[in-house]
Amino acid sequence: MGKDVIIACDFASGQKTMEFLGLFGEKKPFVKIGMELFYAEGPEIVRQIKERGHKIFLDLKLHDIPNTVKKSMNVLSRLDADMCNLHAAGGSKMMRAALEGLMRPDGTRPILIAVTQLTSTDSETLKNELLIGTPMAETVMSYAENAKNSGLDGVVCSPLEAEAVHKRCGAGFLTVTPGVRFADGDIGDQKRVMTPAEAKKAGSDYIVVGRPITAADDPVAAYERCVKEFIG
Ligand code: C5P
Repeated sequence: MGKDVIIACDFASGQKTMEFLGLFGEKKPFVKIGMELFYAEGPEIVRQIKERGHKIFLDLKLHDIPNTVKKSMNVLSRLDADMCNLHAAGGSKMMRAALEGLMRPDGTRPILIAVTQLTSTDSETLKNELLIGTPMAETVMSYAENAKNSGLDGVVCSPLEAEAVHKRCGAGFLTVTPGVRFADGDIGDQKRVMTPAEAKKAGSDYIVVGRPITAADDPVAAYERCVKEFIG
């Protein structure tokens, strides 16, 4: 899979999601389904969106003992998700088990990426609550390296970190980057953002874009603008 724009479908119901995707007609953007929608609608929502012809990033951020993660990943793989994720904090045994679980009988599997440190975790929390004394930037890079060494395909990170991740883990290690805003758009609750064009320059492989598309007056035009800026 090449560079792509992934729309974060952060809707509370399947009906809203289907109405939104209906706007795109014959176009079939890559979409991200998160916990809220998955827990509200169950696996059926994945099947329905796949049936419409979309690729799906199932953003469920698994983190448990290796055996449980392996079996759960197997279920997600059978749902025909194209991309899944987990917390690198689960460790290399868990990450390797996840890859095993994802492998389909025909030898294919969804892309597997790791969350390093959530952007909502600040340096104080890292030090005082998680008891990690290493600075945030190095923690993120070290988690990315563990993911790479465990065989994963990439990480979720800020577009501002994409270059450093590629330097440390190789150009082929995928960077999937939220925190994208149009130059003339609302930043909302995101803190450190880049435009799709800047994310392209920074080397992001996939940008994850929610509200700049989902809350736009014309979501299809906003999506196309993203694609044009990011892919060209
Ligand atoms: O609406 P917006 O473009 O901010 O949506 C970004 C999406 O990426 C949301 O689904 C959000 O949960 C997700 N995300 C993020 N920052 C992270 C990890 C995930 O914004 N560090």
